[in-house]
Amino acid sequence: MTDATVKVLLVEDDEDDYILVKDLLEEVNSPRFELKWVASDDGALQDMCSGQYDICLVDYRLGTRSGLDLMTDAKAKGMRCPAILLTGYGDHDVDLKATKAGAADYLEKSLITPALLERSIRYAMENAQTTLALQNLSRRILSAHEDERKRIAQELHDSSGSSLTAIKIGLESKLEAMRKGKDAVEGIRLEDLIRLVQDTIKETRRMQQALRPPIIDDLGIVVALRSLCRDFAKFCPDIQIQHSFDIQEEEIPEPLKIVIYRVCQEAFNNIVKHSSATSACMILRKWEGRIELSIEDNGQGFDPRKVLEGRDIRREMGLASMKERSELSGGFFSLCSSESKGTAILVSWPAGSVHYSLPA
Ligand SMILES: Nc1ncnc2c1ncn2[C@@H]1O[C@H](COP(=O)(O)OP(=O)(O)OP(=O)(O)O)[C@@H](O)[C@H]1O
Ligand SMILES: [Mg+2]
Repeated sequence: MTDATVKVLLVEDDEDDYILVKDLLEEVNSPRFELKWVASDDGALQDMCSGQYDICLVDYRLGTRSGLDLMTDAKAKGMRCPAILLTGYGDHDVDLKATKAGAADYLEKSLITPALLERSIRYAMENAQTTLALQNLSRRILSAHEDERKRIAQELHDSSGSSLTAIKIGLESKLEAMRKGKDAVEGIRLEDLIRLVQDTIKETRRMQQALRPPIIDDLGIVVALRSLCRDFAKFCPDIQIQHSFDIQEEEIPEPLKIVIYRVCQEAFNNIVKHSSATSACMILRKWEGRIELSIEDNGQGFDPRKVLEGRDIRREMGLASMKERSELSGGFFSLCSSESKGTAILVSWPAGSVHYSLPA
């Protein structure tokens, strides 16, 4: 736990027990605790939902109701901080109910020591932070998926949708003309319609390619990455691109391939958009039992803390989604960037153990 003061709300109807908790907290050397005592459950709900406390300690037997009911109500009304249930006597049944009601812990007052209370509060706060981070992550992933669906729907509408409508109108008018006994060469030319059909096929292939590049399944990730580098070099002749693959195709777990591809794609996009670099280097290798991917550029760099911490949820998704894809697939993501030295992205996974794969 850090040295910052931890704000504790105690909901307890017995003054002796308030003094007990106060003394226990005062005996803890670090961190410092600031305790607020609420003696009745009447005003407690408002305090519990106020967002002012880091942790809430709730007595199981309050005057008119149980601490468990109070906790359940507070959660329903938006209490964000974790809560620990305190009881006079150990009761396994109450312990189970406490877990179900979302209590972070269940402590028997007669057994509490300063060290135990500090530890329980620390774990409760850490777990609450992890849960919050996971909730934010899920929210961002859902929002990114929704944006992606919107983009695909828009593309389908603007490309294949419009072309197919034009083809249908063309064919109808041709049929109409033929029914009226006009010559087949009059009006819209069949050759033009065929060209439109060919364009639509091409457009559909392009979209399919963007959704899940078939080259990964057909020829493997190493060939796919070589092709990505070739395209990059073609479109950005001012940036020298180097690559090195010191790994065999079969050493890369199947679910990891799309993750590696997407990370490289986004890293390259960022180099083109933001770096002003003159050279970039991609390395994929097996090294000391790990699969390592690095993408570096010698461009202008940036301050990663500003970008990753002050990020608007709907904008600047690239770096965040690289990190999320990497970590959800069991990898470790790191980013180094400085003004003089450019930017380096390094992701490493334990070889052969991938926990999850993100949808492409
Ligand atoms: N290689 C790089 N060199 C310099 N700056 C970079 C580099 N990569 C990222 N950045 C900086 O980090 C910011 C965030 O990058 P990120 O990929 O998250 O968002 P974006 O590229 O602006 O938008 P999006 O990827 O969502 O289309 C960029 O706006 C840029 O300022
Ligand atoms: Mg980007």
